[in-house]
Amino acid sequence: MWQLLVVAAFAQSAHDAVADVALGKRIFDSQCTVCHGQGGTGGRGPALTKPLLPKAPDDGALRKVIAMGLPPEMPGSWQLSVREVASVAGYVRSLGSVKPEPLPGDAGRGFALFKTTGCSGCHLVNGVGTAVGPDLSAIGARRNAAFLKRAMVEPSKDLPDGYLLVNLITAEGKVARGVVAAEDPFSIQIRYVSNGNYESFRKSGLKEIQRQPGESTMPAYGNLPAGQVDDLVAYLASLRGDSK
Ligand code: HEC
Ligand code: HEC
Repeated sequence: MWQLLVVAAFAQSAHDAVADVALGKRIFDSQCTVCHGQGGTGGRGPALTKPLLPKAPDDGALRKVIAMGLPPEMPGSWQLSVREVASVAGYVRSLGSVKPEPLPGDAGRGFALFKTTGCSGCHLVNGVGTAVGPDLSAIGARRNAAFLKRAMVEPSKDLPDGYLLVNLITAEGKVARGVVAAEDPFSIQIRYVSNGNYESFRKSGLKEIQRQPGESTMPAYGNLPAGQVDDLVAYLASLRGDSK
């Protein structure tokens, strides 16, 4: 209940706060560009250079997103004062008048390539495909085009949370290779890369746990013709889940 009161009090005072766009830009540059890119052109987080932000349709919602974040991927900025939040919101709104970069690819061709290139063998889109990697049904609302391109060409550059590869070496010297699905001090559960099945191991029965940060199970598609990469990016960018 108290959280509701805090939120309500916050919404009211935020409404009254005056935005200082220059201050908002300084805060944005130091705290938001890591994920949203210089000038909000996007990166790990979506581009903010558009007039309509699906998760922040009005100023109140935008201030709330900035203060409280969007779990699990975007952290809240609880340390910012009400005036600072209003200022960052003012700056973000000013980015909306920047024209988004038009994409060179063709989403329709990308849709066909998504199947023929084997992407759907590892990814679900609107319930179709296989869930070895992340569900991509709303990927276009969460990542910008540059990120999507890099995810395909250099998949080990930005691994989303929850895709840490490990090699488990058993007491008998056998190697089990997979993505960590769950772990506690005594046991570790992996999902096999080869078949998607899960298996749990007691840590006391393992000779070694080799963690491989920065390694991806997704093949790199750097050798696809550039036009096909662009088509796939256009298709992925068009996948926006419910937030059309
Ligand atoms: C750790 C990375 C990260 C940081 C830091 C971050 N964001 Fe985000 N942000 C994201 C991601 C990822 C999303 C998309 C989340 C979703 O759709 O569930 C997002 C979504 C948003 C949205 C909604 C966009 C839309 O299309 O509706 C806004 C607005 C936003 N962020 C603003 C900010 C501002 C302003 C800051 C700095 C105070 C910030 N973000 C810091 C990752 C981040
Ligand atoms: C062998 C399985 C496999 C195939 C085939 C595959 N992927 Fe992936 N993909 C993954 C996994 C696993 C991840 C999670 C991150 C990582 O390990 O790189 C991922 C991550 C991604 C991401 C980033 C998702 C995010 O949340 O940031 C995108 C985009 C993507 N893949 C697109 C594609 C496209 C397009 C193709 C086809 C050209 C493709 N993938 C083929 C397994 C695969």
